[in-house]
Amino acid sequence: MSATRALRASNGLLRASSSLTKPATPAVLESRRRFAASARAMSSSFYANWEPEGPSVKTEIPGPKAKAAIAGLDKVFDTRSLNMLTDYSKSAGNYIVDADGNVLLDVYAQIASIPVGYNNPSLRKVAQTDEMINGIINRPALGNFPPVDWASVLETGILKVAPKGLNQVFTAMAGSDANETAYKAAFMWRRQQDRGGPDVDFTPEELSSSMNNQAPGASQSLSILSFKTGFHGRLFGSLSTTRSKPIHKLDIPAFDWPQATFPQLKYPLNAHAAENAAAEAAALSEVEHLITSYHIPPCAVVVEPIQSEGGDNHASASFFRGLREITRRHGVLLIVDEVQTGVGATGRFWAHDHWDLPHPPDMVTFSKKAQTAGYYFGDPALRPNKPYRQFNTWMGDPARAILFRGIIEEVEKFDLVNKTARVGDYLFGKLEKLAEKYPGQFENLRGKGMGTFIAFDSPRRDEFLAQAKKVGVNIGGSGQSAVRLRPMLVFEEAHADLLVEALEKIVKSW
Ligand SMILES: Cc1ncc(COP(=O)(O)O)c(C=O)c1O
Repeated sequence: MSATRALRASNGLLRASSSLTKPATPAVLESRRRFAASARAMSSSFYANWEPEGPSVKTEIPGPKAKAAIAGLDKVFDTRSLNMLTDYSKSAGNYIVDADGNVLLDVYAQIASIPVGYNNPSLRKVAQTDEMINGIINRPALGNFPPVDWASVLETGILKVAPKGLNQVFTAMAGSDANETAYKAAFMWRRQQDRGGPDVDFTPEELSSSMNNQAPGASQSLSILSFKTGFHGRLFGSLSTTRSKPIHKLDIPAFDWPQATFPQLKYPLNAHAAENAAAEAAALSEVEHLITSYHIPPCAVVVEPIQSEGGDNHASASFFRGLREITRRHGVLLIVDEVQTGVGATGRFWAHDHWDLPHPPDMVTFSKKAQTAGYYFGDPALRPNKPYRQFNTWMGDPARAILFRGIIEEVEKFDLVNKTARVGDYLFGKLEKLAEKYPGQFENLRGKGMGTFIAFDSPRRDEFLAQAKKVGVNIGGSGQSAVRLRPMLVFEEAHADLLVEALEKIVKSW
């Protein structure tokens, strides 16, 4: 990018934030100089002329065009959760473009689900292949009519990045669906064991009672244990394990399943080591207590490596090793929900790779950045004893599996997981300095050593997110007060500089 274009880009950002900036004092001039400097290196190093020059906010958001379009849309579609009316044809790389042509650096990335940038050139090529066209217009009922090359699509894609120790997959359509089917696999596995193994047939009573939603056929005596403030989706089973916000759950019938406290760590971690270790030990004993005494005993525990929707709550690797040990000791399955943490954002392909588990999780669920979804498993006993017990029409989607294969190739080509680890460290260092400079504004900074999966609490969180748009950044929140950063894997140091300067601008104006 030429210096002139870069300067224009940076001026765009400054114009955008003019309502937040004061008259051009020497400090403001210095900040403009620094913005111009960072803008020079802002563009993607992966593909020339891919991304816009930088953020540029020309109107309020939503602007006049967006407002008119939203009013039209609202007549036929509920727009009350609308964040930004987006022009996907113009969005590129780390930048999202709205209906009025406003360009924002996007560190929210479709709720953490865009892996390698909008309109990634390699993925556009994948989308135009005959293989993809075939997958889209001839969508198979995978359980009945898998395509001739389905094994190869899986082996070169989804299974190529399978978590250590897990060599099979059940494909699904979304994160909730992935968890839902994993839970069903857990129930069938346990009931099969109780019955005496896969070869023991169902009793006539089981068969008939199942049709009346009654025991013994419809098991009423098993549960899934989840953690307070966790999020696992919104279907019936997955919603029962979701404990983040009442608005997700109200009015929906739910199972009477147990919940354990997720450790509430205090920050900075090194200043609270003993307290945090005690909180983790207490949470583990609560899990064990619930496993052994809950009136509907759990056959599986589901846990997120970092509770994401619930406010970016972390726990140590040793906590998760403890959880693996307890679940194994009690013959309870461990399901690790990597829907949000998976595919590189934490600086490892799977967040649970950070834990050094002596025994892998029993199932790992995935979706979001993978674009496809499902659960990985290793134990053949997790396949139900009869066909059609775990089944639906599509059971996933070859088109999305082919896309994930393209994403994996892109990740490998540019070493994006290691790069994310490095950029994350760089960003965290800068945020630490910012937090020191503005006490009380960036509280409980968390995610050190976890790639770009970083968050902090803001005392004025919702205002913070709204102001971010004005300075050219799209950011999301989670839980009650967290600002969560979920950049894509193509987020680089130059984007981090830009982000940190924009964040500073927000708090400086307060
Ligand atoms: C950890 C986790 N599990 C499950 C889900 C549900 O995924 P989906 O919204 O695709 O159903 C989410 C969604 O945010 C999630 O963050």
